[in-house]
Amino acid sequence: MKKILILNGPNLNMLGQREPEIYGTLTLKDIQNLCENTAKENDVAVDFRQSNHEGELVEWIQSALHDFDGLIINAAAYTHTSIAIHDALKILKYPIIEVHLSDPDTRESFRHHSFIAPLATEIIKGKGAQGYAQAIENLVKLINL
Ligand code: DQA
Repeated sequence: MKKILILNGPNLNMLGQREPEIYGTLTLKDIQNLCENTAKENDVAVDFRQSNHEGELVEWIQSALHDFDGLIINAAAYTHTSIAIHDALKILKYPIIEVHLSDPDTRESFRHHSFIAPLATEIIKGKGAQGYAQAIENLVKLINL
């Protein structure tokens, strides 16, 4: 069975309590359940993780080189700052989908630049938790091409 790694960056562990008017009321655990159900329907395995630490995200990406067939990443604030995550993603040889719950382009100008975008096959933003389910469906299609 093909395997997808889903990485979540800083403060996404606070979903549900964090700016619900922007991010909605679902918790990260709810999003994980949605991803696991969507994966089951699409005959793919998912490994869902979150970290508040840039280095840990970098290490997870490095060690995912051989063990996975695709990556979904919501790097949260590191999207807009992390050359280290950009460099790590460059090593991967499979499709990457960038996801955001909100649409950063319609928010503060410091959210308008993404260091992930140049390496992403696709970007899904502003669709809330449903964006993760969509990312799994689209990634499965890309992997099975
Ligand atoms: C986010 C958007 C980022 O700008 C922000 O820093 C986040 C969440 C989103 O999912 O909408 O933490 O990635």
